[in-house]
Amino acid sequence: MAIDSKLKSRIAAAGQSHVLKYFDELDEAGRNQLVEQLSKIDFEALPGLVADYVAKRPEIAIPADIAAASYYPVNPSNDDEKALYAKATELGRKMISEGKVACLTVAGGQGTRLGFDGPQGTFPIGPVTGRTLFQYFAEGILRNQEKYGTKLDWFIMTSKLNHESTVAFFREHGFFGLDEAQVFFFTQGTMPAIGYDGKLLMSAKDSLSLSPDGHGGTLLALRRSGALDRMRSKGVEAISYFQVDNPLVPVVDPLFIGLHALTGSQMSAIVLEKTGPYEKLGNFCVTGGRVSIIEYSDLPKEMAERRLPDGSLEFSGGSPAIHVISRGFVEELTEGDSLKLPWHRADKKIPCIDATGNPVAPESPNGVKLESFIFDALPLAKRTMLLARDRAEVFAPTKNRTGVDSVESCRAMLMARDASRLQAAGVSVPMREGGVVDALIEVSPRLVADVDDAVEFARKRNLQSVVRGDKVCFE
Ligand code: UTP
Repeated sequence: MAIDSKLKSRIAAAGQSHVLKYFDELDEAGRNQLVEQLSKIDFEALPGLVADYVAKRPEIAIPADIAAASYYPVNPSNDDEKALYAKATELGRKMISEGKVACLTVAGGQGTRLGFDGPQGTFPIGPVTGRTLFQYFAEGILRNQEKYGTKLDWFIMTSKLNHESTVAFFREHGFFGLDEAQVFFFTQGTMPAIGYDGKLLMSAKDSLSLSPDGHGGTLLALRRSGALDRMRSKGVEAISYFQVDNPLVPVVDPLFIGLHALTGSQMSAIVLEKTGPYEKLGNFCVTGGRVSIIEYSDLPKEMAERRLPDGSLEFSGGSPAIHVISRGFVEELTEGDSLKLPWHRADKKIPCIDATGNPVAPESPNGVKLESFIFDALPLAKRTMLLARDRAEVFAPTKNRTGVDSVESCRAMLMARDASRLQAAGVSVPMREGGVVDALIEVSPRLVADVDDAVEFARKRNLQSVVRGDKVCFE
């Protein structure tokens, strides 16, 4: 394929002609690949992006009217709230059983911190069996389908880098018992990495250095992939959105879904009580009457540390990135096949070729990757609803190998959650000091999605206790 003269002049006008330096020496496949990549770049917008995000660090202006967002508490605080939660739970259940809810997992991230060679969702997280992240969700979906007598469609966002291997993984595992037809994979967009000199980086002579465009890319990708059309045709109204790195999340949460619908919210969010002023969670704020999230790194120290008279943090609500999003809201946002969310800059070590075409593996950051974030859609919603949940029941991200938000902490939290369900069902579970389970346990989400299920399970198996130090998986 030759390069069209119009594209060539757009590239030149943006000051990016270096991307064609090796064009004449490429084979046909290489040329085709490069032209295809280049034709997707908005060269007219590129100089502005470089000026705003690369040449300088974007300044996060904290609006003067900023205040902490209020949210529904974990437990209803009065009779009215009690009645509201009951009504919402009932409505959420009804919506699930009527097929008005679909699950959406974002699994397009690169999981660099996890340092795992493969799609994040294929990481073996189960404390006993090494059940993978994808399997946790698949089995959760199976159990909930059974509970609600319905089929739950599951939308999984991949990236260009992991799409093939993700789909192959599901095939290899027989879709974990789900119908192939209920799982819809779709691929997010990419963004080119930009060097500190404002030039697009190239990973090879025939390729730009491209990376996934952030979980904010979900919204447009839903439209472009046909996922939105499919949802509409199947009567899906609410999307239960969660991240692939969080196996603790309930795949559907009736109270959350019902409150979202009852309050007429377009986009809702789960809130966690932060463990301290600097916990690495986005902070729920309100400005101009709209809910927004300010990243932990952008919240000024004084605000992060500010306390209420009772000693609690003023900005106490942190985001675990669990949402319910109305399908209609995504349609509205992406109308005209475009959506402008702000970009977030990340300085990275980006493997590339140098000016002589030789590969370089930089030892320090050499450029910028730009990503958009799903939570930047919150202030675009006319109505939002925030609901606090108990962290131990919804959030155990597995981002690092050890330490905070790690494989270790995630496994411990999965075990603690399973233990507490078994205990609530009357099973004695050995504990060490500090509430740590003194055994290795894993309960299949195919069997137990909540305490009611645990009660039923323990009764059927006549399960009375777990032996101290035992390693046991309940399948
Ligand atoms: P993170 O922000 O933790 O990024 O993603 P990451 O790529 O997974 O990990 P690091 O930063 O490289 O270590 C949070 C969630 O959003 C998804 C991830 O798969 C994860 O579920 N995500 C992130 C996408 O789907 N696409 C993206 O472009 C970025």
